[in-house]
Amino acid sequence: MSAHIETPSISKHDAARALVDATSLSAHFGAPAALELVRRAEQRAHSQVLGDGPRWLQAIAALRARGPTELQLDRAAPRFSPSADLGDGMSPADEVEATLLQLSPWRKGPFEVLGTLVDAEWRSDMKWARLQAAVNFAGRRVLDVGSGNGYSVLRALGAGASAALGVDPTWLYVAQFAALRALSVGPESLAQPQLAGWVLPLALEDLAGVPLQADVVLAMGVLYHRKSPIDHLERLRSVVTKTGVLVLETLVVPGDARTVLVPEDRYAAMRNVWMIPSVDALYVWLRRCGFSKVELIDVSVTTEQEQRATAFMPSLSLADFLDTRDPQLTKEGHPRPRRALLTARVA
Ligand SMILES: C[S@@+](CC[C@H](N)C(=O)[O-])C[C@H]1O[C@@H](n2cnc3c(N)ncnc32)[C@H](O)[C@@H]1O
Repeated sequence: MSAHIETPSISKHDAARALVDATSLSAHFGAPAALELVRRAEQRAHSQVLGDGPRWLQAIAALRARGPTELQLDRAAPRFSPSADLGDGMSPADEVEATLLQLSPWRKGPFEVLGTLVDAEWRSDMKWARLQAAVNFAGRRVLDVGSGNGYSVLRALGAGASAALGVDPTWLYVAQFAALRALSVGPESLAQPQLAGWVLPLALEDLAGVPLQADVVLAMGVLYHRKSPIDHLERLRSVVTKTGVLVLETLVVPGDARTVLVPEDRYAAMRNVWMIPSVDALYVWLRRCGFSKVELIDVSVTTEQEQRATAFMPSLSLADFLDTRDPQLTKEGHPRPRRALLTARVA
């Protein structure tokens, strides 16, 4: 007979409560939108079995107990440091690191958490450096579609956004953000001021019919994962305010306005890549979807400095996905990943 290892059971209600924290969302995005978002997020939490849920919740609880922390968000690695009041002399660094590793793999980062550098697979600070000069966040409400663990949610707040809401359907990333948020807020009894940042477990499609719009909508690294990129762009248009801006970042290929790569199979080992347009084709897509004033901010070839394996994401990464004889190609023979960053308006 094989040994049976007990995993602590956790009710769906507790999981939803810990992972879907929308405290004070309504103050920034309005009660009708906030209530409906929470309802949909909790519905998803209740309808899905989260195999890793107990492990994540333990990590979130352990970090909450070490809060509240002081935040410095306007830096490459948003920093969570012990508050002057409580101190954190009781937190050995290796314990913090072990807790954060419970939430691996960390795809986006870096973060600095109680002295531990969460060195994620992606140097998201490099992407942020490319966009920050082109976008005014001061006093703006931000919606980050496909936010991952909320790296850009935190950076937007660091750049002066009044509120930043991320949505992402991947539970692990929602759990990573929940851990950072719990750490910043600390035990509820201390009633700390709330961070005006959230990541809810929703896809862009889940926002249909919700009265939600934002002044700055970030949509980075998602378009090529959508089977129907035109529908995705139309949905993005509907969540940008009349005076707002869309910040779109996506894979592109060299070519003219009629060039779109549809990989036969994988692209750089990813199964879920559907369409990669040229920059000129992307202009056409955006204009057809009703966007105007489209501006190209940057095109960068992704380097092994920006995307690589680390202790917090120890499996294969970009270097393993390139052709060993010609690093300008992926191992499937497609052009190596390069990403365009654009802004577009709706009026
Ligand atoms: C490549 S990551 C990009 C993360 C981050 N925006 C960045 O640029 O670093 C793509 C993210 O989009 C999320 N995603 C996939 N489909 C989505 C959808 N329909 N709506 C919102 N997010 C989606 C995935 O869960 C994943 O976290």
